[in-house]
Amino acid sequence: MFETKRIALPPSPVLRPNGRTQSRREWICLLVSLAILGQVYMAIHYCSVSILPWKHDHHAANSTLGFGGIYAVSRRGSPRRQSLLSAGSLSGLDITLPVQPIWTDEDIARIRAPENSFLDRGSALAWLGHRNALEKFLKSTDDTALIMEDDVDWDTRLRTQQIPQTAYAIRELLGSHDGYYGRTDLWDIIWLGHCGDYFDATKGSEIPVIKSYNDPAMPDLEELHPWTRGFLEEIGANHNQQRLVHASVQPLCTFAYAITRKAAEKVLNELTVREPSRDSESPCKAYDVRLLEGCRDEGMRCISVNPELFHHSGLLSEIAQVSDGRPIEKEETSSHERLVESPTTNIRCSARSRKWKEIQDSVTDPSINAEQFVRDLAELSAECYIDDL
Ligand SMILES: *[C@@H]1O[C@H](CO)[C@@H](O)[C@H](O)[C@H]1NC(C)=O
Repeated sequence: MFETKRIALPPSPVLRPNGRTQSRREWICLLVSLAILGQVYMAIHYCSVSILPWKHDHHAANSTLGFGGIYAVSRRGSPRRQSLLSAGSLSGLDITLPVQPIWTDEDIARIRAPENSFLDRGSALAWLGHRNALEKFLKSTDDTALIMEDDVDWDTRLRTQQIPQTAYAIRELLGSHDGYYGRTDLWDIIWLGHCGDYFDATKGSEIPVIKSYNDPAMPDLEELHPWTRGFLEEIGANHNQQRLVHASVQPLCTFAYAITRKAAEKVLNELTVREPSRDSESPCKAYDVRLLEGCRDEGMRCISVNPELFHHSGLLSEIAQVSDGRPIEKEETSSHERLVESPTTNIRCSARSRKWKEIQDSVTDPSINAEQFVRDLAELSAECYIDDL
């Protein structure tokens, strides 16, 4: 899945830094590289990964994380909705769940390649679901939206700590300080949730410009997924709680991505009208692959937050179930809330952990607002409170 070929980053004037310090730095970088050929590797580290100063004056992001709206891709009657909305309310997020039509076989046939389709039924439904969310976004008057899948998890401090710091790093990356994420005509997609955007630190031409920042809500290196940890160490981002933003190289999985109006139009009207006709050498098996191709090969200007801020939770994948011919969890068999029992990959303090509900339910004193109590608790400490229970 991650064996996609290594690619050189197209020169993107927007995602390259400008200004004197940077060009002086590039000169130093060049000289250092020439002088100590054996240590080119180190030089690349020096040039690419420097940590931005922590800004203490950041205010929490608003309820739509500085975007125009947050839309979740969720099929009708999905048993995950309740826990998604609970996690949203715990974190102060305003999540819209666009109604999906009941997709017919014709709908599925319409987006599959006319012959040799590699899109299985589950992936086709997800494809239609993402398109539906983008259509709903374009019916609004907003400039940007965050699209998330309904089984994703995030840290409870996403809105108050992580997003303000991430948005600041993105403004620095873009060299634009108008707008919460810089000017919206400078980017197409911000990949906030993915299952990896790896590049090879020994290949200078494909190393994007990186802004690195401190995120105290991030798991320590040793708690990260081994691939994530390996990647970070390999590119020299080997401090704990060091997160990066950079021009995307090849991000996969559309757990959560922000998109501008123009880009949403391009995705709807050009990239995902239907599965491209391919041979088995380069099949396009899912919507996220199409978006990756948009970023990598088709000129979209994409930014990755690395490691990701959203990751799919321990819930069973609906796509896999549909495609295996297993029945999807039925509404009536689902418990009131479908909550995450096991830790979510790369997320420190899970907003979808079942513990939050347990704590809330355990508050019996009527003078205490249980919901507010849990919300305050989720914000409390620099460490994840839940770990200590
Ligand atoms: C949140 O902030 C963004 C960016 O400033 C803005 O476009 C959006 O309307 C705000 N949303 C809410 C609900 O305040």
